[in-house]
Amino acid sequence: MSGVIRLVLLLIEVMVMGATSHDHREQKQQQNNHDVSGVSVWSGDSGWGLQVHRYCQLNHHRCNEGMEVTRDGWVDAGEGRGIIPPAQGITITVLNQRTAQLIFSRVFPLRLYWAHWADLDWHMKHIAPGRIVIMAVSVSGIYGLRHASIRLAALGSLFARHLPPTAHWTWVFIMGGRTISETAHINTHIHLPHHVHVLLPLSSIPHPPKSHSRWQYCENHGAMGGLCDEVSPDPLPPPIPSPVVKQDQLTPVPVIVTAGKRHQYLYHTLITLMTTPGAIHHNILVILGDAPASTTFLLHLLNVNYTTLPVYGHQNNKLFRYYRAVFNHVAVTFPNAPAAIFLDEDVEVSPDFFSYFSQTLWLLNYDPSIYCINAHSATGFRGLAHDPSTVLRARVQVSWGYAISLNFIRELITIWPEDINHKDTVLYDAWVYLHASQGRECVFPEVSRTRHYGIGVNTDAWSTEQWFLTQPLVTHSHVHLSNITDLTLKPWQHKFLSTLQHATFLTTNPCLPTFVPSVNTTTYFIFCYALNRKPEGNLNYQNFYFAAKCLNAWGVSEQGLHEGVLTIRTSLLTTVYLVGTPYSPYGYLCPKHILPWSYDELSDDDEQHVVDRIRQHEIEGIIQNNMQVAKLQFGQTA
Ligand SMILES: *[C@@H]1O[C@H](CO)[C@@H](O)[C@H](O)[C@H]1NC(C)=O
Ligand SMILES: *[C@@H]1O[C@H](CO)[C@@H](O)[C@H](O)[C@H]1NC(C)=O
Ligand SMILES: *[C@@H]1O[C@H](CO)[C@@H](O)[C@H](O)[C@H]1NC(C)=O
Repeated sequence: MSGVIRLVLLLIEVMVMGATSHDHREQKQQQNNHDVSGVSVWSGDSGWGLQVHRYCQLNHHRCNEGMEVTRDGWVDAGEGRGIIPPAQGITITVLNQRTAQLIFSRVFPLRLYWAHWADLDWHMKHIAPGRIVIMAVSVSGIYGLRHASIRLAALGSLFARHLPPTAHWTWVFIMGGRTISETAHINTHIHLPHHVHVLLPLSSIPHPPKSHSRWQYCENHGAMGGLCDEVSPDPLPPPIPSPVVKQDQLTPVPVIVTAGKRHQYLYHTLITLMTTPGAIHHNILVILGDAPASTTFLLHLLNVNYTTLPVYGHQNNKLFRYYRAVFNHVAVTFPNAPAAIFLDEDVEVSPDFFSYFSQTLWLLNYDPSIYCINAHSATGFRGLAHDPSTVLRARVQVSWGYAISLNFIRELITIWPEDINHKDTVLYDAWVYLHASQGRECVFPEVSRTRHYGIGVNTDAWSTEQWFLTQPLVTHSHVHLSNITDLTLKPWQHKFLSTLQHATFLTTNPCLPTFVPSVNTTTYFIFCYALNRKPEGNLNYQNFYFAAKCLNAWGVSEQGLHEGVLTIRTSLLTTVYLVGTPYSPYGYLCPKHILPWSYDELSDDDEQHVVDRIRQHEIEGIIQNNMQVAKLQFGQTA
């Protein structure tokens, strides 16, 4: 379409099929609306902008109150500090359907291909029916829309699945109802922004009782999911869930949710947590770093205990101090608890979360070689997690949803510096691993009990999508975990050794599709790779990296290894142990006649297999739903 000016400007009124109750509402809204609001939105190379005016029906001129403006363009920072570019991506703005007041606005950086589309999709899913939604491209954003385009199309967007990567686009619609306006500007040679002006009918559906603090809150906050859904609101407070089999194990254990100002995430996380079997509402304590009124009001609504620990500093340093303060607070507040469970505001738990902890928590105070119980699986990535009843142990950081003992917390506090050494740029969980775990291991499930769904601006988007968003999650509760006593050190080592001793050696290139033979009975395989120290003393993980990547496992760090051995479950019946020799204490099991695998010794053919296989893993399974975009971007069929 290059060279041809194609400007599409549509004013359409489409009823979305299937949205029954809301259709009815919209009709009613049209018939007897009192007030209207005027919306101007623009989208272009230089940013985006939005103005909302409210008109009063009586005299049809602007009411004094209620004008909202938000815009983002190139800004001169002043004093010769240069020009600040606008945020690039797709913006979502939500207006209150009765007052046209702006209640949510955010730019999703979809100029990036990976992961952020999932966050946009998450927010769309949590906007209540009836809300007025305004979307616009700021500079560029269609490129990263990906799978989210399907939800947008289902919500009534005509263009979302068909736009080229550089298009400028605006869409004004009523969630669950009709489109007010949708425009797209797809000619990349025109650099002027396009503007849209529409009149919005405001809803005259009676307001739910404002005396109820919940609806008072919903007046001013968007993307809150079932909290503000007037058609099918979440019950408040959430119902008490059923107990789990070992409920008494959870009674003395506080559940600490660390949170800040992202109250959309926090509400979802808390509701999921509080309705998970085994949850004890009065054991939950939210510890706030930043505590805006919107968050504390929400916690009052949910009747959840909270406390605020104001922290100073910037970015990582601030987070580091915050977690230090959190651990201090927990040590002082719950001195007699055997353990505490920690969860971040943007981590969703599986229905089996508490059942899993109820069966494993005792290990913390029983086995001194264990320092944490993780609910998140360090190794259970897509294709490698099959059995919800299997639990493992290995060297790993505390991760999303973990329990540590109060003894460990006290130990931690004594060595935790007020400020991190400027050389220690690592995050707090890595710091705990490096400086406090002292060779101890953690317990974690083969299939995860948590998902880290929140996506921050600093997230490594590719890894997030490749590894974490696609990770399987246990979707039912009350899973009976097998052989938990075997996780204590001696039985574990004994069983591990005996399994390795009886395993079958694999000796071909791990990147060949035929590397792991297909079997019809439970089979253990062992693969020996060379793991040596580099001249300066650190272990050289290069061979480990390639061997793990061949099997689509996490090879980026040594997280998840038990004494130099990575356990990979390639199918329900097949387990492959990657043994690093001579470093691993199990390395002696590799017989002399089998040369440990070394990437540097590969033939050109074998090296090509490695490259091809890893490339295949990194692309397959990543679903590109707006294929048109991919084709245009790469100039060929993807
Ligand atoms: C929450 O508050 C209640 C009432 O003050 C108290 O009994 C309970 O111990 C608190 N729970 C936590 C985890 O702080
Ligand atoms: C549990 O341990 C017993 C004895 O070691 C073993 O026979 C059984 O297969 C184990 N069960 C599972 C599910 O691993
Ligand atoms: C299982 O595999 C073995 C060897 O590959 C084969 O002889 C046997 O028939 C298979 N059994 C079933 C039930 O498929």
